[in-house]
Amino acid sequence: MDSLTIIQPDDWHLHLRDGVAMTAVVGASARHFRRAIVMPNLKPPITTVAMAHAYRQRILDAVGAGGSGNEPSFEPLMTLYLTEATPVAEMEAAKSSGIIHGIKLYPAGATTNSDAGVGSVERVYPMLAAMERLGLPLLVHGEVVDPQVDLFDREAVFIERVLQPLRRRMPGLRVVFEHITTREAADYVREADASDGTLGATITPQHLLYNRNAIFTGGLRPHWYCLPVLKRETHRQALVAAATSGNSRFFLGTDSAPHARILKEHASACAGCYTAPHALALYAAAFDAAGALDKLQAFASRNGPAFYRLPVNHGTITLRRQPWTIPAALPFGEGEIVPLAGGETLPWTVD
Ligand code: NCD
Ligand code: ZN
Repeated sequence: MDSLTIIQPDDWHLHLRDGVAMTAVVGASARHFRRAIVMPNLKPPITTVAMAHAYRQRILDAVGAGGSGNEPSFEPLMTLYLTEATPVAEMEAAKSSGIIHGIKLYPAGATTNSDAGVGSVERVYPMLAAMERLGLPLLVHGEVVDPQVDLFDREAVFIERVLQPLRRRMPGLRVVFEHITTREAADYVREADASDGTLGATITPQHLLYNRNAIFTGGLRPHWYCLPVLKRETHRQALVAAATSGNSRFFLGTDSAPHARILKEHASACAGCYTAPHALALYAAAFDAAGALDKLQAFASRNGPAFYRLPVNHGTITLRRQPWTIPAALPFGEGEIVPLAGGETLPWTVD
């Protein structure tokens, strides 16, 4: 197969940042994806419906026109950042806003801009119960932050300590286990007893293509550092099997997380891989290597809308088997940004 046309995909986990950084990156997502779930971990975080409205408008302004009639070419699907102080009334407002599609739970200290996140999940049970009642999805960064737990085990421990008890208590809560990175997570999502539309997981391109060796090959390579961190090869294989299985619980979420080059090439490098420009080509490479290009459309374009109860897109996008070299660096405000695997050549390109 030398070309592949699929329904236009959506990105179910994306960091767009704000200001000049957003202006620099939003076009790359809008070029390939019709919609994206936009993460709320700005400084300060997007904790209210009013903030989400304003942020959404800034994104639309940055994308510019380009749609037909009143329909924008790129639709940001907004999220709220859950804190221990989020009022239940804000959940109700989120549900009726029409623009908020999920509430993001960051364990405090787990990742970039997560300080305002949740210290103990028990403390947000009232908010989660409201979300269960309202049918508002919970998007969860699934890692414990207990310093006693090995960094590479944080996701597996999260399943036991947090996710299982939570889902047992609130089986109707719709949960997306974001950017899963382990066999344990893939197994959990596949095997969990969950009624339709109550459990999903996003998988990034880097976790399908690379294992943790990539971080250390030829020296310490910060552009391969993201959270949850890349894992062993056995985990990568389990993720590929999940993504290419056709199981509708798994869907595309790039977790493209831009940080300026100077903050990545730093003594304490920021976590996050920038993949917006080439995410689809990366996914195609991963599915192709697994002999499963025929499963890409479901993962990229059907399973996400089904979970989020949104229509499947109308347009299509075509991928070609044509070598394409990822730019080594791109402009990013006053500085630059290094895309994941910058300078390397991918076997697929997007028309
Ligand atoms: C994300 C970021 O930079 O905002 N970083 C990352 O490594 N994935 C935060 C996140 O999704 O954990
Ligand atoms: Zn993320």
